[in-house]
Amino acid sequence: MTLPLPKFTWPRSDAAAQEILGWAIDEFGSGLAICTSFQASGSVILDMAARLVGGDINVFSIDTGRLHEETYQLISQIRRRYGIVIELVPPDADELGSMLTLHGPNLFYESPAKRKLCCEIRKVRPLQRRLATLDAWVTGLRRDQDGGRERTEPVAIDEEHGGIVKLAPLAGWSNEQVFAYARERDVPLHPLYAQGYPSIGCQPCTRKVEAGEDSRAGRWWWEKDVDKECGMHLGMRGQMRREVDVLLDEVLPARRPFAVK
Ligand code: ADX
Ligand code: SF4
Repeated sequence: MTLPLPKFTWPRSDAAAQEILGWAIDEFGSGLAICTSFQASGSVILDMAARLVGGDINVFSIDTGRLHEETYQLISQIRRRYGIVIELVPPDADELGSMLTLHGPNLFYESPAKRKLCCEIRKVRPLQRRLATLDAWVTGLRRDQDGGRERTEPVAIDEEHGGIVKLAPLAGWSNEQVFAYARERDVPLHPLYAQGYPSIGCQPCTRKVEAGEDSRAGRWWWEKDVDKECGMHLGMRGQMRREVDVLLDEVLPARRPFAVK
């Protein structure tokens, strides 16, 4: 697909995170949203945005329905602290109900394809629906996160999502920089960091890591030789895509094989 050329002036390549965020807010206005999972990078970005424009910014999170209780507590804390509206985007109820009926609630432990199916229904498809309404989105992705993120650009065209602009203002930041910013400004942080979780996703799919393990080792820890991605950022390819498509075909309401009336 040929993407239309963007009609904006890109920020300087050495621009600071705050400048990139400020540029995006000016450039895209209500067509921009911050997409956060309330990990440290996301909370730092929310703090930067609040300092720039107060609560006048779109913020959303994908509420998979399986987040940690501590994540829900943090959402309440951040709402109070910054006075911002946080839109929680749920999975489609019919798609979710169909998947749960066919495969049960804990399908992710049964096979990599079923895990990816769950991520697709609970995260990827809700994200796609939300991004279809936007011109640009802000993520907390960083190059130092394990698992193929070493080429993350602060500003890029997101070909996986219709050619909108994808921002990662903290792309070049280290973990230490993120936590130093958070400490200096008293940014609310996820309580599970203090319990040994360096990366925090859904509750049944995240565990603590041991000393020496990489930062994403606790995500989908039971899987061997499967990429540690949910599909929000890197689309699936090849055999895995085909396997998940077969499962999706059975689950999607228009095509589900059981009567629902
Ligand atoms: S994941 O692909 O493994 O789930 P990760 O947890 O590292 O992603 O988060 C990377 C970025 O993806 C976050 O900074 C955030 O922008 C986005 N993200 C991940 N999960 C969610 C979610 N549930 N809701 C909103 N954004 C999310
Ligand atoms: Fe489902 Fe686990 Fe993916 Fe969450 S991380 S959407 S519970 S498979």
